[in-house]
Amino acid sequence: MSRRRPAAAEDLPALVSLDTETFGDDAWSAASWAAELAQVPTSRHVELVEGEDGEVLAYVVVMVVADVADLQRIAVHPSARRTGLGGDLLAAAIERAASRGCERMLLEVADANTAALALYHRAGFEALHRRPDYYGAGRDALVLQRRL
Ligand SMILES: CC(C)(COP(=O)(O)OP(=O)(O)OC[C@H]1O[C@@H](n2cnc3c(N)ncnc32)[C@H](O)[C@@H]1OP(=O)(O)O)[C@@H](O)C(=O)NCCC(=O)NCCS
Repeated sequence: MSRRRPAAAEDLPALVSLDTETFGDDAWSAASWAAELAQVPTSRHVELVEGEDGEVLAYVVVMVVADVADLQRIAVHPSARRTGLGGDLLAAAIERAASRGCERMLLEVADANTAALALYHRAGFEALHRRPDYYGAGRDALVLQRRL
């Protein structure tokens, strides 16, 4: 059985490890992760899903600025994808942002990231605009929004 729970400072190594495995050169450093965790719960919502042995299977990071929630990161370990963990973390993040008074959630995603786009569209996100070459030549970003 897996379990969703708020992330804590002790989760830092596991979060860095999954982030690096997922995003490679674009992963956050340990220092960046520590800075994110230090801002929980003031302006960050960081939740994870742990597996039976306590291993981190998935995480989500949301930054809250006034009435806008910014989905900064969501990742699921390749071995646990398509089992509902990403959708579950996203739904919980949306609920949490709404309950703290946010009116919308924004995110950026590569237009080639079909898995993430499907996840976001299913959760009610809609395209707001396109940022050409945002991730490098020919690699556009889409900015998506969901009203809360
Ligand atoms: C995007 C990601 C977080 C999805 O997590 P997940 O746990 O596999 O997603 P879920 O199992 O909750 O899927 C929910 C829905 O999203 C859609 N979806 C998810 N992965 C998909 C894929 N590979 N292809 C098509 N649709 C997909 C489906 O509609 C799915 O519902 P279904 O399985 O009932 O058809 C995961 O693929 C991932 O970690 N990718 C790498 C990191 C990344 O790109 N993060 C987003 C950018 S920051």
